[in-house]
Amino acid sequence: MARRISLSRYLIEEQRARPSPDNDAGAIPADLRLLIEVVARACKNISNAVSKGALAGVLGEAGSGNVQGEAQKKLDVIANEVLLEANEWGGHLAAMVSEEMEGVHPIPHRYPKGEYLLLFDPLDGSSNIDVNVSIGTIFSVLRCPDGITEPDDLAFLQPGVKQVAAGFAVYGPATMLVLTHGHGVAVFTLDREMGSFVLTQDQVKIPEDTSEFAINMSNMRNWDAPVRRYIDECLAGKTGVRGRDFNMRWIASMVADCFRILTRGGVFMYPQDAKHVKGRLRLMYEANPISFIVEQAGGASTNGRQRIMEIQPEALHQRVGVVLGSKNEVERITRYHAEAMK
Ligand code: AHG
Ligand code: MN
Ligand code: MN
Repeated sequence: MARRISLSRYLIEEQRARPSPDNDAGAIPADLRLLIEVVARACKNISNAVSKGALAGVLGEAGSGNVQGEAQKKLDVIANEVLLEANEWGGHLAAMVSEEMEGVHPIPHRYPKGEYLLLFDPLDGSSNIDVNVSIGTIFSVLRCPDGITEPDDLAFLQPGVKQVAAGFAVYGPATMLVLTHGHGVAVFTLDREMGSFVLTQDQVKIPEDTSEFAINMSNMRNWDAPVRRYIDECLAGKTGVRGRDFNMRWIASMVADCFRILTRGGVFMYPQDAKHVKGRLRLMYEANPISFIVEQAGGASTNGRQRIMEIQPEALHQRVGVVLGSKNEVERITRYHAEAMK
């Protein structure tokens, strides 16, 4: 029988085998392992709710709005509650931040506190919930700065290069979990009968070149010149400067678009434009964790001008332009932006 490696076994073997940037003894600290397992368990619960759909009454609007002024779906609220509840009592966290909550969520005083900070987008791709298209959960893990027992916004405002782990789940035809702790990217598939995530790909690598791009074309009239130049050249295909045809995909769930890019390459863009002057996606719990994964898989991620993971955040819900995926294409688009500045 083929050897099946569960997420728990993978983490324990990584803990034994690999040096970690935050532990010279050469391991994923036990608390970080617990944290990842707890988040994965929460993702299983969310996956269950997602897969029951209308049978569990989880589709449709929640009738409330979040801090970004977006209407919340029932599943946005449910997924947020599942993640909060799962992560409050384990003793591994100092505090949490969520797309669905304005401020920092402290760990209740009745529970012990740990040394990590967790940030998440509980349900990514909300517009796809009711139409049965893949959606997901994104998370990012930071260290709580030394000496801070009641973390505030400032404790969280660390650039993406400080992440110690990041991941996302995709609730699609299969539920998958993509994970990095800074030593490459591993992918797990949920075995529903066994109730466990099983390692199905290790050391994922994004091809450096691609002929596939993902962008919401309805924003075209608002794009900056470098983005328009890049897409125009793709659309010109064989007869243009690129000398080959390009294909387009846009799922409108970043997790699903990025999973495709991890699988077969591609470039994903939600750039800042005249309508989204600061970008559309959120830096701390969408762009940073996905960028960490993409870079760990050999891809690149910028806002068109600068590496996303080096941006110093100024607010929890800050937005950012995003260009990520196959390295050579991301470098080309970033170069087009630099040339436009001259
Ligand atoms: P969320 O559902 O968490 O608000 O994020 C949705 C994001 C991202 O997943 C996706 O790529 C993008 O919004 C889709 O935007 P458009 O609806 O403008 O295409
Ligand atoms: Mn999202
Ligand atoms: Mn969301």
